[in-house]
Amino acid sequence: MYTLYSPKSHSVTCLVAPFFFSRIFPYFSPFFPVAFFFCGAESRFSYLKRSGCPSPAEDVGRHTGACSAETDKHPRANAPTMADADTTTIDDEPLWLFGYGSLLFKPPLHHLPLSKDLRRFDGHVNGYVRRFWQSSYDNRGTPEYKGRVVTIVPAAAVAATPAFHDSVREHELRHLPPPAADAVLADPARLAGELALGGCVYYVPPQHARAARAYLDFREKDGYAVEEIDFVVGTPAGGSAADGGYSDEDREILAGLPRDAVGRPLIRCVVYVGSPTNESFVGPEDNDTTAAIIHRAVGPSGPNVEYLMLLQEQDPEDTYLQSLKQRVERLSAVEPSSSSRL
Ligand code: BEZ
Repeated sequence: MYTLYSPKSHSVTCLVAPFFFSRIFPYFSPFFPVAFFFCGAESRFSYLKRSGCPSPAEDVGRHTGACSAETDKHPRANAPTMADADTTTIDDEPLWLFGYGSLLFKPPLHHLPLSKDLRRFDGHVNGYVRRFWQSSYDNRGTPEYKGRVVTIVPAAAVAATPAFHDSVREHELRHLPPPAADAVLADPARLAGELALGGCVYYVPPQHARAARAYLDFREKDGYAVEEIDFVVGTPAGGSAADGGYSDEDREILAGLPRDAVGRPLIRCVVYVGSPTNESFVGPEDNDTTAAIIHRAVGPSGPNVEYLMLLQEQDPEDTYLQSLKQRVERLSAVEPSSSSRL
């Protein structure tokens, strides 16, 4: 491990050494200023390398010891892991975690025994769209070839950004004639009312909440930040309106939550969001381009194609995911995707 190298002490050496050198070997005197420059230059730049500090350029997109959002691999040895954590610490509150991406097909903490205490509820959030507009160098891609993973974009950001409109017109607002869609896109409140995004919420019981929160904070990386969001719990498929379709245990967990106008439980939960201002946000990308990247990219968590297919299975009605899946399948018919080359 490098220690911080002092440029100051090095500069003093650089001033003094050429002076003595020129006394002993006078015919070197003309080279004194040249020697001083190079010696000083070395001192100016080398401490950055020796101190182990990344240059600002290297620091871009560098992860901070966070666990991979999907792999649960931990690149920094001294960062807390759930295995180290005191999982029996009692917290007052449970943790509610919204999943719209990999959490839909890979539950949090799935590798730990405590995961059996987590419960999943399906439902939706209002006022967001989900897009493969976040690049991934550490999950479904590499720094050399970044893949694509999903993030969610709020209605207000969609309304304020004309470059997002075409994609939302094509999918979430496809049931509206163009003038009506334009009127909705111009009004963030109306747009929020048109957008319902399917997902799930995980309930982490109070005895695991603190440890899970610490663990999940380390998972936040590559541009994702923790925010809060309001989740509407849906009635499970096949459940009757009378009993809500939930088990006794689930009903106990949901008891006491506020309800919406039709009696559905409402949950304020945490969510990982790659906002339009983060460095990994690629922004609107045409579906052919996104599909070609997904078709090719592979990362530590596996092929990007697998991520798309598993996500699409979770939300088969989403026309945006359908369109990407169709494109990737067309590409795979011509050239096998990265997943089938493994
Ligand atoms: C998700 O599945 O909701 C998710 C997981 C990690 C980062 C971003 C989103």
